[in-house]
Amino acid sequence: MKKNSICEQFGLEYPIFAFTHSPDVVISVSNAGGMGVLGASGMTPEEFDSAMKRITNACPEKAFGVDLILPNKYVGMEDGGLSLEALEKHIPKGHRDFVNKLLEEYEVGELEDQEKLASLSAKAGSSVSLSGARALANIAFKYPIKLLVNALGTFPEEFRERAHAQGIKVGALVGQVRHALKQKDAGVDIIIAQGYEAGGHTGDIANTVLVPQVVDAVAPIPVLMAGGVADGRQIAAAMALGAQGVWTGSIWLMTEESETHPVVKKKFAEATSADTLRSRSSTGKHARQLKSSWTDAWEDSKNPDPLPMPLHGMLISDAKLRIEQDALKAKKGATELINYFVGQNVGMLNEERPAAEVLQKLTKEYEETMGKLGSPTTSSIK
Ligand SMILES: Cc1cc2nc3c(=O)[nH]c(=O)nc-3n(C[C@H](O)[C@H](O)[C@H](O)COP(=O)(O)O)c2cc1C
Repeated sequence: MKKNSICEQFGLEYPIFAFTHSPDVVISVSNAGGMGVLGASGMTPEEFDSAMKRITNACPEKAFGVDLILPNKYVGMEDGGLSLEALEKHIPKGHRDFVNKLLEEYEVGELEDQEKLASLSAKAGSSVSLSGARALANIAFKYPIKLLVNALGTFPEEFRERAHAQGIKVGALVGQVRHALKQKDAGVDIIIAQGYEAGGHTGDIANTVLVPQVVDAVAPIPVLMAGGVADGRQIAAAMALGAQGVWTGSIWLMTEESETHPVVKKKFAEATSADTLRSRSSTGKHARQLKSSWTDAWEDSKNPDPLPMPLHGMLISDAKLRIEQDALKAKKGATELINYFVGQNVGMLNEERPAAEVLQKLTKEYEETMGKLGSPTTSSIK
């Protein structure tokens, strides 16, 4: 895979970006010639700082980035984020009762490590706010990152100014042309067009339709295609749609370096592409994830609707930990409930491999595809 302008901009061998919450995946991908991007949401500032230190030490001279979640809408937004106590008061008792009843029905045990719980609820509440994102960004700026991305909205001017002053490119995920135009106006350097098929928070327009429209709308800003990539053939498709590279997520969840729960990995290996849905059941916002008894319960119209961000994450943080704990012990109810964010490409994720091997496989498949298409293998992706 010959280097294109995105590779030159970031100093990469391949225009393949790997979004992940696992620092070891960032390290492996960046060292193998791609661009690892660490998702900081859900980490405390201390955890994030220690992950960044580790990545920086393990990736000398290699490019890596950071992704934050600062939505355009969340509870407490007017004040830049409410205190955890104030947020807790917005969670209705009926919702707490429903979650408790669900766990009882599936015979999920109490949490053994209470310390873990306190930290998780705090993380769920505080990272989704301007003040939370600012705290994480302040840490990110201490490290030699090449890219800072926002998942769910437009960064305030202060983030872009500081990033640009330090030579850091700013990016954003978008699911619609109008969102892409807003990001263009806001001065981002790179746009990630994320289609319906993607894992995590995503919209309802498929990549084959979304990517060419975003490419045309924001030119000359480079666009990466996010969603559905698990094979080099899909990278060739992304390039044909006008993208300059791909932004990948789900594929790394099945790597040896990923911190994915072992029961979730097993479920992913057995799942087909029909086994995911967009559901508000894990964050309060539509996110693609594996179907399970958990998503079934929240989709049932007899049950309460999920809460807005960040209340939903706070409401369910205890439940999620208890489910993870019991699933590790192979308890039936928890195994039925447990799920995680993943894209429709889960049907192509059948085995665990080292991340560097996954990257090499993608580039080899890309080359083979371009060869079959009968064009010079790489000049078309300039
Ligand atoms: C487990 C998981 C967590 C995610 N969390 C975030 C996040 O915190 N911030 C973000 O920008 N995107 C997040 N995403 C979306 C990814 O950045 C990426 O766009 C998406 O995974 C691409 O689609 P794919 O899963 O089909 O590769 C997440 C995706 C997954 C699978």
